[in-house]
Amino acid sequence: MSKKYVIAFDQGTTSTRTIVFDEKGTIVSISQKELKQYYPQSGWVEHDALEIYNDQLETFNKAVSDSGINPEDIAAVGITNQRETTVVWDKKTGNPIHKAIVWLDKRTTHICKDIEEKGLSSYIKKNTGLVIDSYFSGTKLKWILNHVEGAQEKAEAGELMFGTIDSWLIYKFTNGKKHVTDHTNASRTMIYNIKKLEWDKKLLEALNIPLSVLPEVQTSSSDFGFINYEGVAIPIYGVAGDQQASLFGQGGFEAGIAKSTYGTGCFILLNTGKKQVRSKKGLLTTLTCSLDSEPVNYALEGSIFAGGASIQWLRDRMQVIEKASDTEAICNNLPPLKNVYVVPAFAGLGAPHWDSKAKGSVYGMTLDTGREELIKATVNALAYQTKDVIGAMEKDSNNKIVTLKVDGGASANNYLMQFQSDLLNVEVDRPKMIEVTAFGAALLAGIKAGVWTKNNITEIREVDKVFDPKMDEKTRKKNYKGWKKAIKRTKRK
Ligand code: G3P
Repeated sequence: MSKKYVIAFDQGTTSTRTIVFDEKGTIVSISQKELKQYYPQSGWVEHDALEIYNDQLETFNKAVSDSGINPEDIAAVGITNQRETTVVWDKKTGNPIHKAIVWLDKRTTHICKDIEEKGLSSYIKKNTGLVIDSYFSGTKLKWILNHVEGAQEKAEAGELMFGTIDSWLIYKFTNGKKHVTDHTNASRTMIYNIKKLEWDKKLLEALNIPLSVLPEVQTSSSDFGFINYEGVAIPIYGVAGDQQASLFGQGGFEAGIAKSTYGTGCFILLNTGKKQVRSKKGLLTTLTCSLDSEPVNYALEGSIFAGGASIQWLRDRMQVIEKASDTEAICNNLPPLKNVYVVPAFAGLGAPHWDSKAKGSVYGMTLDTGREELIKATVNALAYQTKDVIGAMEKDSNNKIVTLKVDGGASANNYLMQFQSDLLNVEVDRPKMIEVTAFGAALLAGIKAGVWTKNNITEIREVDKVFDPKMDEKTRKKNYKGWKKAIKRTKRK
């Protein structure tokens, strides 16, 4: 009997999961662990890379045993991961030399300023597709090399390895045999040239990063080595950063398809095909999932730092809700807000504003503003931020987006999806199975293993609900005008 299960490792910012899919793309089992966050200083965010590996292994074992499947029937594993988060480890011991620096971490803002002053902004934009920001891995890697004693020398002697989380997991799961990554993850480092598809020598020199620490870059659906699982060799055949994986899992293979994932952050990607659109409006140009048989495609991306994270803030810090799903009924039961806006710039503002100094703010409060208004304004902010990005995308690509495909935890919130459709004046299409990121990684692996082809997506992706805009133009404009004013007042730049 042919192998018919595909496994996805989905290593996100706040959780680590393993999902077993059968050949129909149906979930057979899921195992999940919350990931511990470390905040050693204000603006710093770290993860323990060994904990990430151990959690991934634990969820892998549990998901396989819960599913009751025979390991011999597993065709392949696909890995998808929080992007940009940076790990450096010792080649000899295989141990990290520092905690992983998370994408949200702002400690390298001063390094970014130096690079800007060296006049590299337009070179970086042209060749990496990115803006200079502490979000990306390059300056985080430099920081570790400069701050861990002896690291720069060891790196130069070829004794250290750098990787994003995919690379780190592959290294551990293949017992140190592979030091590799894929196009999507490489394109988030700010040291990878997305035109030439190679590490950028000029930028490596500017940051003083030796080439020998970097992983080899492969297409996203290719051979990344084998996991020895109870004596069975299971191939890792798919790797992609989580946002590109979800674009792939939504069937976003062609130019013109746009998706938004409402996770810790919100990430909107528009496939632009072979065209590398350089944004004039604060968006990023990035690589989409690549297949061996096809040339690479590009996407425009708008990265919003606080999405679901701001709902978590309501729950854990403000303690005004018990669980995230409570927000739907609260928002539905309250009349539309009049001029109350929360700008959740908790980690600065990402696309399209790029202001790392901005801080979270609330505007328009009066004596009748209470807990419920604060909650609704925070939920609304996810949709407003997405509108900022979609507006920029339409201008950059010269195209009107007609459908937005959605996924991620907060896409389950019907109030938010309706408000999103109202604000954008586009249809919002939510699939039945919202584990799209994990499915995207499984699909990459399953294609290489011969379980699926790209065309299978039409049978696998079932629509749950399409939200059509209901708001009148005057209200839409008025609401958005108020938001833009709030953003203007929040910005420090
Ligand atoms: O770029 C950061 C992004 O990949 C993180 O995604 O889902 O872990 O919030 P998520």
